[in-house]
Amino acid sequence: MTARLLEGQRALVTGASSGIGRAVAIALGAAGARVVVNFLSNPAKGDAVVAAVRAAGGGDAIAVRGDVAKPEDCIGLFDAARERFGGVDIVVANAGIQRDAPFAEMTLAQWQQVLDVNLTGQFVCAQEAVRQFRRQGRTPASRALGKIIFTNSVHQVIPWAGHANYATAKGGLKLLMKTMAQELAAEGIRVNAIAPGAIRTEINRPAWETREAEAALLKLIPYGRVGDPEDVARAAVWLASDDSDYVVGTTLFVDGGMTLYPSFRDAG
Ligand code: BGC
Repeated sequence: MTARLLEGQRALVTGASSGIGRAVAIALGAAGARVVVNFLSNPAKGDAVVAAVRAAGGGDAIAVRGDVAKPEDCIGLFDAARERFGGVDIVVANAGIQRDAPFAEMTLAQWQQVLDVNLTGQFVCAQEAVRQFRRQGRTPASRALGKIIFTNSVHQVIPWAGHANYATAKGGLKLLMKTMAQELAAEGIRVNAIAPGAIRTEINRPAWETREAEAALLKLIPYGRVGDPEDVARAAVWLASDDSDYVVGTTLFVDGGMTLYPSFRDAG
C-alpha cells in the first residue's frame, strides 16, 4: 500500500460541521491526518463528522466548539489540538457565513457579522496557526513548517450585488492570504487559498434546490454542473500535502469555470 498523502499530520478545520468544511475534514482524515473538527453550535453535527472521519479510514478526530469571530475561541481550538494531538500541521480556515441584503438596506449588524466571521475570524485563526507552527517547530511529517489554507470564494474577484459585506470580506481575505504568504514563506509556512464557485451546500440552497433555480445557476457555470463539497475537499488535500510543496500564495479556483465570464460566450 502506498503511504497516504497526509500520514502523520494533524489538521484543524474551522466550520467543519457542514458543507465544504465537513467534506474537507473527512478528506483530510481519509488521507491520513488526525483532525480537529470545529463546530459553532451543534455538537451532534460535529460528532457526526468525527465519526465520518474515522469511517473514512482516517486517524483520530475530535469535535471542538468555537466561534471563530471570538479570539478566545480560536485559541481554544489550538489548545485542544495541542492537548489531543501535540500540535497542528495543517489549518483550513474555512468558517464563513452570508447575511445578504440590498446595499442601502444592509444593517450595520449584517455588515459587521460577516466581516467578523469571514475576515477577522480568518485573521485570528491564521495568527494562532502561525504562533503554533513556530512553537512546535519542524516535524518529519512535512517539508513545510506548516500550511494554512483559506476558503475564499469566486467573489474575491466577482462583484456580487446584494452581498456587499460578503464580497468585501472575500476581497480582503485575498490580500490577507497573499500578504501572509509573502511574509511567512521564508520560514517554511505555506499560505494558499481555495476559491470555490457554486458548491451544493446549505449556504446557497435557494440557488440550486429547484429545477428553475439550478437552470439559472448553470448559465454561470461553463462546466455544466453545480460543484460538490468533495470537489473542494480534494483540492484541499493536495494543497495541504507535500505534493504542492512549491505552491505558495496561490488561489486555486474550484469553480467549474465560473470566473471565465460565461455570459460573454455569445456577446461582447
Ligand atoms: C457563495 C455561494 C454562491 C457562490 C457562487 C459562494 O462564495 O457562498 O452562495 O453560490 O459563491 O456565487
